[in-house]
Amino acid sequence: MKILITGGAGYIGSHTLIELYNSGYNFIVYDNLLNSSKEAIKRVEKIINKDIIFIEGDIRDTLKLKELFSKYSIDSVIHFAGLKSVAESVSNPLEYYDNNILGTLNLLKVMKEFNCKKIVFSSSATVYGDPATTPILENFPVGGTTNPYGTSKYMIERILEDLYISDNSFKIAILRYFNPVGAHESGALGEDPNGIPNNLMPFIAQTAVGKREYLSVFGSDYDTHDGTGVRDYIHVVDLAYGHVKAIDYLNNSNKIKPLIVNLGTGIGYSVLDVLKAFEKASGKRIPYKIVDRRVGDIAKCYADTSYAKEVLGWKAKKTLAQMCEDSWKWQSNNPDGYGI
Ligand code: NAD
Ligand code: UD1
Repeated sequence: MKILITGGAGYIGSHTLIELYNSGYNFIVYDNLLNSSKEAIKRVEKIINKDIIFIEGDIRDTLKLKELFSKYSIDSVIHFAGLKSVAESVSNPLEYYDNNILGTLNLLKVMKEFNCKKIVFSSSATVYGDPATTPILENFPVGGTTNPYGTSKYMIERILEDLYISDNSFKIAILRYFNPVGAHESGALGEDPNGIPNNLMPFIAQTAVGKREYLSVFGSDYDTHDGTGVRDYIHVVDLAYGHVKAIDYLNNSNKIKPLIVNLGTGIGYSVLDVLKAFEKASGKRIPYKIVDRRVGDIAKCYADTSYAKEVLGWKAKKTLAQMCEDSWKWQSNNPDGYGI
């Protein structure tokens, strides 16, 4: 039996392949390489010393998905595939809804046809919008999203919940990621954003390596310990292992309601905390300028992680220093990412 990993060539997917392999799971990877490179798969193969079954394809391609389900014995899916840029989603909402929503609907229909009823879905803390308080618990209100990317995640969560209501033999895990950062400790795998990074850690890493002149710090007048935005940064390898625990959970439970769980560390760090930690890890000075707030940003976002511990027996282990060290190793070894 195999797990189908949609979007498995991407940043989080590629790290998850290693953790799944280390835990004895078999998988196949399906990705259209829209935001990733085959090189990531080659590097995972090198790390695990094993060939990976990789199929290039789009989750909206029904025929190709059906071929895949006919050819391989797939009993579960980890569904990473999707578009993830907030800014792009605002300028191109139709493409985002088409890819994320239609893609997921298509995948779910094919899964149902082939009686494959276990799915782990990549959701995001963005579904909480601007929370009234922190830390954020899973039962906080959701849906106050401010952009099509976030709304697509919220809508997919609802679709999955409705699917379960219609057929409670589906086993569903919705993982709400906080801010994934860092890279594999080998320095061979990491985040390879197209163009100018929108997210903090890749921007800092590119500034440290000399690709960007300075970091713009978006606002210093938030109600936080130093006025800059506070987030829950989680090492991508810890996050990847959370998927193994989610698959274990689905495999070991009988009929269960959709599991909705936060994957974060529970610790909030500010932009300046991250900057200082990265300077320490890299030995580089990182110039920065305080600029206006970024539209749509919130002051504080960090998880209550007690439910993840209780239900999955999972807890993030890696520190902010390790996140910065591994990002730096990846960035300095691969200044142009996978270079493709
Ligand atoms: P990523 O872009 O690196 O990986 C996504 C992968 O999906 C890419 O390899 C891309 O080529 C592939 N893909 C996109 N559309 C596809 C389609 N229609 N058919 C087949 N493959 C397709 O992103 P990531 O950071 O690894 O994120 C993985 C998932 O986690 C995404 O769903 C993302 O929205 C979600 N997520 C990410 C973050 C984050 O900060 N990285 C936070 C919360 C949630
Ligand atoms: C962003 C997205 C969110 C998505 C998440 C993970 C927005 C509004 N939100 O969240 O939907 O789920 O990424 O991909 O885009 N910062 C700077 N300078 C920079 C970049 C960021 O100061 O150049 C600050 C931000 O203001 C924020 C913190 O760093 O306080 C983290 O930003 P970022 O990495 O973009 O993540 P989020 O804003 O949490």
